[in-house]
Amino acid sequence: MTRKIRTAILPVAGLGTRLLPLTKAVPKELLPIYDTPLLQFAIQEAQDAGVERLVFVSHPSKKIIERQVKPDGVLMSKLRRRGKDDLVDVMLQSEVHADVEAHFVYQERQLGLGHAVLCARELTLDGPFAVILPDDLIVGTGCLAEMVAAYDPVRAGLMVAAMEVSKEDIRKYGAFKPKGRDGKRLPSSGLVEKPAPDKAPSLFGAVGRYILPHNIFYELARTKPGSGGEIQLTDAIAAMTPDVGLEGFIFDGRRFDCGHHDGLLEASNWRKLAVARDTPPPMDGFVAAE
Ligand code: G1P
Repeated sequence: MTRKIRTAILPVAGLGTRLLPLTKAVPKELLPIYDTPLLQFAIQEAQDAGVERLVFVSHPSKKIIERQVKPDGVLMSKLRRRGKDDLVDVMLQSEVHADVEAHFVYQERQLGLGHAVLCARELTLDGPFAVILPDDLIVGTGCLAEMVAAYDPVRAGLMVAAMEVSKEDIRKYGAFKPKGRDGKRLPSSGLVEKPAPDKAPSLFGAVGRYILPHNIFYELARTKPGSGGEIQLTDAIAAMTPDVGLEGFIFDGRRFDCGHHDGLLEASNWRKLAVARDTPPPMDGFVAAE
């Protein structure tokens, strides 16, 4: 069976300046969410959605991510020799599954999310592909798996996770221009990157899960710098929308913004409860610790 979405691109090149000094030596993607590195959740979510290849777009100063993601044969055999097979089997082999390929490509200069995705072009398998931003941790649902199940290129070739945010916060997101709403689907006529609150076309913000047609790489290659002087994925999506269609996907889970200290702390508190109960706590019953 051919898988519907074969590749997930995970941009991990950002320098995490908002989280300094935590991120001076440790990439933000490896910061702990209680007992698990943040990146592991994105890897798991992509695998749960059935992809066969992960492409990490990283930065030369963050090579340690490769060490975290790839199997460490020396450590495994050392632990086995000491009789710690359980650690190897449970803690070390759950990362990238044996039937999933992990590739790394390096983005030397920070030219924006659109440019990061473009860096993965040669490593992206045929057909539509996914992008997961690991900073946006979504729990309580396999968000990408839900999107893959809902994705129908005849309805819309571009699908982006959507979440309602406050008027003040919409300036931090790509904002949808909705044409209506159909259950979890938000058919839209475009996306605007980080609008001023009084110019925002809606309060539906884009969250870091995308399903994109392969030919967006042509669009990205000619996208000029936009908001913040960066090559924006949002602008390439907006440019393709009239031709292939765009749907927001309003997901069920809870999202933590792990690009900020508060999000990291709240996600850790959530994870601690989930581990204690051995099952994720209900979303509405969760109250972040003071
Ligand atoms: C990026 C995207 C933005 C999206 C956001 C979600 O922005 O450019 O459209 O809404 O991720 O987290 P960033 O947060 O990287 O500035």
